[in-house]
Amino acid sequence: MLKAVERKIEQYVQELNDPEVVALYHQLPHGKRLRAKLILRIAGGDLRMVKTAAIVEMIHAASLLHDDVIDDAFTRRKQPSINALYGNKTAIMLGDILYSKGFFELNDIDRRVSKVISNAVTQLSLGEMNDVLLSEHFNTDKSLYMKMMYQKTASLIEASAEAAALLAGKAPEAYRIYGRNLGLAFQMVDDLLDITSDSETLGKPALHDFVEGKTTLPYIYLYERLDGSGRSKLREMHARKLSREEQGWIMEQMQEHQVLIQSHSEAKRLIDEAIELMNEVGETALSDIAREMIERNF
Ligand code: IPE
Ligand code: IPE
Ligand code: MG
Ligand code: MG
Ligand code: MG
Repeated sequence: MLKAVERKIEQYVQELNDPEVVALYHQLPHGKRLRAKLILRIAGGDLRMVKTAAIVEMIHAASLLHDDVIDDAFTRRKQPSINALYGNKTAIMLGDILYSKGFFELNDIDRRVSKVISNAVTQLSLGEMNDVLLSEHFNTDKSLYMKMMYQKTASLIEASAEAAALLAGKAPEAYRIYGRNLGLAFQMVDDLLDITSDSETLGKPALHDFVEGKTTLPYIYLYERLDGSGRSKLREMHARKLSREEQGWIMEQMQEHQVLIQSHSEAKRLIDEAIELMNEVGETALSDIAREMIERNF
């Protein structure tokens, strides 16, 4: 069924009828297609579901094009990012084209679905803005971080699950909560992988978040545990390029204070809750995809 989604995306891109854009799009490697998988797993593979999955993946790709400009990231999906290859202007314009084509196609699906997805994109954009605002200072407030993470990442995954349930004629509430938990856990793991994985495995820059000023959960937890001098040392390293030694110190402190384990168990708890909720409504087939969200190394 994922093949049908790939074909549908290809068709939408061809319909843009612009050789330049088609060529640019073909330079984007496919991602994990987790959002599409989620939609198909909840709603089955009818044409409307395939279209919705294709639209969500196009919207997601657009968000990544803009995200790499925002984050000054030069690698994406193991390849140079579009901003690295052709500059920020091209990345922004291609993002806009994919977003708007996605919204255009959304109109033909279902009014409720179209509202749910487009509202999620507003949330995502607000989240990206708040991510940047939070990174201007050393943020130590977990609740602000969680709210931002919900907006930038969980909202679209939540909306995908809700939209799929609506299309399948299932009561959406449980799916919405399931999707939200998956989305929060997914971003927590993304933040963890930035610290624990290498750039080659990730296919995008590693240890990049803190350099960009982002104090993700492990940094917030570490800050809580450090003494006065440790805190000043960490603050001093915020939002700048780090030497190997400094990176080593951060890793050492994170190990010592077990903040990576703490973040991972928090993500795991959200996933367990989501699985339990789905088991309650008889959707045992939705456990695997929930686990996939956190048991990954890229
Ligand atoms: C990356 O999403 C952006 C985040 C929300 C963390 P994915 O990890 O799903 O990206 P692809 O589509 O598989 O590349
Ligand atoms: C998620 O945040 C990006 C979007 C929701 C668009 P990140 O900035 O952490 O994503 P990656 O790590 O670049 O994939
Ligand atoms: Mg990024
Ligand atoms: Mg970002
Ligand atoms: Mg990230």
